[in-house]
Amino acid sequence: MTTSSSTIESTLIENRVFPPPESLARTARIAGMEAYHALCAEAEKDYEGFWARLAREHLQWTRPFTRTLDATNAPFYQWFADGELNASANCLDKHMGTPTENKTALIFEADDGSVTRVSYKELLARVSQFANALKALGVNKGDRVLIYMPMSIEGVVAMQACARIGATHSVVFGGFSAKAVHERIIDAGAVAVITANYQMRGGKELPLKSIIDEALAMGGCECVRNVLVYQRTATPCAMVAGRDTTFDEALAGQSSVCPPVSVGAEHPLFVLYTSGSTGKPKGVQHSTGGYLLWAKVTMEWTFDIRPEDVFWCTADIGWITGHTYVAYGPLAAGATQIVFEGVPTYPNAARFWQMIERHKCSVFYTAPTAIRSLIKAADTDAAVHPSRFDLSSLRILGSVGEPINPEAWMWYYKNVGGERCPIVDTFWQTETGGHVITPLPGATPLVPGSCTLPLPGIMAAIVDEVGNDIPNGVGGILVIKRPWPSMIRTIWGDPERFKKSYFPEELKGYYLAGDGAVRSADRGYFRITGRIDDVLNVSGHRMGTMEIESALVAKTDLVAEAAVVGRPDDVTGEAICAFVVLKRPLPKGEEAHQIANELRNWVAKEIGPIAKPKDIRFGENLPKTRSGKIMRRLLRSIARGEAITQDTSTLENPAILEQLAQSN
Ligand code: PRX
Repeated sequence: MTTSSSTIESTLIENRVFPPPESLARTARIAGMEAYHALCAEAEKDYEGFWARLAREHLQWTRPFTRTLDATNAPFYQWFADGELNASANCLDKHMGTPTENKTALIFEADDGSVTRVSYKELLARVSQFANALKALGVNKGDRVLIYMPMSIEGVVAMQACARIGATHSVVFGGFSAKAVHERIIDAGAVAVITANYQMRGGKELPLKSIIDEALAMGGCECVRNVLVYQRTATPCAMVAGRDTTFDEALAGQSSVCPPVSVGAEHPLFVLYTSGSTGKPKGVQHSTGGYLLWAKVTMEWTFDIRPEDVFWCTADIGWITGHTYVAYGPLAAGATQIVFEGVPTYPNAARFWQMIERHKCSVFYTAPTAIRSLIKAADTDAAVHPSRFDLSSLRILGSVGEPINPEAWMWYYKNVGGERCPIVDTFWQTETGGHVITPLPGATPLVPGSCTLPLPGIMAAIVDEVGNDIPNGVGGILVIKRPWPSMIRTIWGDPERFKKSYFPEELKGYYLAGDGAVRSADRGYFRITGRIDDVLNVSGHRMGTMEIESALVAKTDLVAEAAVVGRPDDVTGEAICAFVVLKRPLPKGEEAHQIANELRNWVAKEIGPIAKPKDIRFGENLPKTRSGKIMRRLLRSIARGEAITQDTSTLENPAILEQLAQSN
């Protein structure tokens, strides 16, 4: 048997344990495992009391709640339901009159490296002014506002301004196509769209407003009355009279004082679309009270955030990570944070390290895909290696969005964290609102590649298909046994799908995360083994295989059938692999190459460039059972280049396997 050196290395590494640095073990918010266990015990003993205490300590309520959890209409749980508050007031107003008011809230670094700082006081004035502009356009409490913005101060202001007037925002990542935006506008019933003329990424000017125009022209968007346009660059964009207004016009004459609107704790703060196992994206609806509570608490527990910290979460506001750990959590915690417009590889792959040095970043939170791509770059160009930069300001590192392989973990730990900084490998989802399973920097001994233990109050467990607990060391289904405040409330407009997706009857009412997991035999640490549904994780972005398949078959002049599976990829974690049956003879060579490119561009137009399949393979058919079901497990093996060892006796057309295997 041959074993590659990397396998030996990763096996050795997985057995290594890194205790928290002594100083953090003494001073962190949760200092030492005893403190962690004490909080877990508090939650076990009096679950509602535990959450009520946190909600009273961490949030400012305009009307105190008297009831903590209402489970009468489970799984539509309600938390703190008779309480009232405003999210924006809890992020901004509450700091006024404290030393935080003049502190820098946002350090914005643009794609070209220019830096703008905004204090908490200034941010409050800007959010208030923007909120008044929205009100002047007739946007009211409960209205939905679609935000399609670059990473910017204005993007954060737009989200906070919606929260201030009780409008529900729905942020769509700037990489999604007009078709994807169109679908979300209609599903959410948005009354207004907030966008920018262009965005700057990697030195390139990319359109945003024209994509909104295209989406609105697709029809059925009569709900949208106004489009607000931030002029990010000097290049003009088309404006529709009576519908479109620039930020400057909208803000002119508006007061920078706007009283926050009190909303019920269950009022939907936002709807964020994410991929599920069927074709249509799900509008994940979050509450105001429970969501904000966990955004604030996890900033303190997971990141041990302190007044002197400079926090940097590299996620885009178009994803949940950018909601909880850019737009809300850091502000609720009164932190100074970096907001970055650009990409990690521009002007070169040292951008992150340069920025950490420049802004003296102390808590850095990014995705494994970014780390892996920067490892590759540093391997080939010593000038972009983190060792060339002064990263001594760092004290805590974080990872999010996908499993981090032990090799990447060790590189991050050694080369970025200087073997001083704990890495918090945070497991969570759009639906969980904030971290659910994660190490604590001053308590948890770290094991590379493991997200370790659930946060206090999160009753995570691994069960079998009927909800029975599974012993440590055996893989199973990840569930959360009790509702928690920051959980998804429903799927916007589709409560039945919410119930079916997350609370299947056979699982005893537990929340089904959609991931497989295993707990280590020795410590009971969780390791996520990947999605158990038809969802892929490409560069930390969730993509539904059915969504990509629907996009492919929508090319009706060319595609007869398509099946999409994932295969492991060194940099992006997973790569999208599409098997396509064409409505024409099997293409070969250059023709196959051309059609594959045409299909890739088609998917980019249907969903967005992030959904482009990396591999496209053509066949005269797909492997199917006699009843016509596509045998995806066989496609997965072919995509990985593995020999087929599975049982193929139920396969209708075995010869197709050979054809597909050779089609690469
Ligand atoms: O499969 C898990 C993976 O990302 C999924 C959630 O994706 P999304 O809703 O887009 O949210 C990403 C940012 C929170 C999960 O179901 N995932 C997320 N974090 C981790 C992870 N897998 C392993 N380790 C993690 N730390």
